[in-house]
Amino acid sequence: MTVPRRRGAGRVIMHSMARLDRRHTRLLAADAAGIADAAAILRDGGLVAFPTETVYGLGAHALDAQAVRAIFAAKQRPADDPLIVHVADSSALAQLGLHDPITQLLGGRFWPGPLTLVVRKRATVPREVTAGLETVGVRVPAHPVAQALLRAAQVPIAAPSANLFGRPSPTRAQHVLDDLQGRIDAVLDGGQTSVGVESTIVDVSCTPPRLLRPGGLAAEAIEAVLGVALVSRTPAGEGPQTSPGQLPVHYSPRTPLTLIAGPPGPARDRLVREVEASLAAGRRVGVLAVEEDLHLVPSAARLEVVGAWADAATVATRLFEAMRALDAANLDVLLARDVADPRAGLGRALADRLRRAARTVIEIEQIEQENFARG
Ligand code: TXA
Ligand code: MG
Repeated sequence: MTVPRRRGAGRVIMHSMARLDRRHTRLLAADAAGIADAAAILRDGGLVAFPTETVYGLGAHALDAQAVRAIFAAKQRPADDPLIVHVADSSALAQLGLHDPITQLLGGRFWPGPLTLVVRKRATVPREVTAGLETVGVRVPAHPVAQALLRAAQVPIAAPSANLFGRPSPTRAQHVLDDLQGRIDAVLDGGQTSVGVESTIVDVSCTPPRLLRPGGLAAEAIEAVLGVALVSRTPAGEGPQTSPGQLPVHYSPRTPLTLIAGPPGPARDRLVREVEASLAAGRRVGVLAVEEDLHLVPSAARLEVVGAWADAATVATRLFEAMRALDAANLDVLLARDVADPRAGLGRALADRLRRAARTVIEIEQIEQENFARG
């Protein structure tokens, strides 16, 4: 079954107030001086991109509504897509929203780290941050540069991923510059991020808690601590969207990506056939592949290898960079299959990002007893 998908489906509302002003973008080293400069810019209402362990964030003073609106203008992000607020430690959550036994449990266990908790918000949080919702997403990042910046700025920092809206999230300072140079005040260069995909988002404002986005922290680990299964979010397009940030197409290479979804063996065979057919049709073809498929992909295709199927942690660090590289290579079509077991751990986040990036998903019938562990 082939499911064509519409790019940018859904409503797009922009802040009418938030016009883009051109800015000189400074590249700051992530040393004491750079962090002090970045903190001063943030306190003054400016925009600074900074590394977290997941991806680079585009930060602004979270309690300064005008600074927050500038994030939306710089990213060309629809105003109805709420931002995550970053704080230095879990006790700081109480100034933004409800710090109850569940947030104490999950924050105590997983913060600092790649987990965002959605909680009932306090009036101090501007509506621009939450897109008018009565809840706010909060995260304590583990990256030492993010930690140092939060402590130097001494204000909560609202930060979406530091990419133009609809582009893959940045895992290096250069990716931020590629998208946002001239649109933001500074980038703190902390090298490559270590997780590579965004945080896992759990809404704990409802019972039972809901998994809004699989991410860098395995949902299974959260369920083990809670002792209950997380409810998955309403599939995109069905029922009301609690958050339009969960649009089905979000991380979109400009070159159309076709994803072959299904068990490893048949998906690999189909991938190779699709590559050969596109090459035979005279198209320039890019393939995002796991190491296991390397020897099967015709050499005429441009290949980006993300790592071994069983090593989802390494694959995650390379996924968005590979998408960016393929997208920059002036190709006609991109092809991929899943890059890890899509049903478990980090593999769920990787599968989610590939599906959001894909223009077309070719679903291969589930074959019983197929072994996902082998890749
Ligand atoms: O790892 C990450 O989460 C990175 C780093 C920078 O922290 N940030 C990130 O932000 O990925 P962003 O803007 O690309 O994704 C934020 C998403 C929104 O699109 C929305 O889906 C969800 O977080 N979100 C934020 N606040 C929410 C709320 N109150 N209710 C439901 N979803 C919310
Ligand atoms: Mg994002």
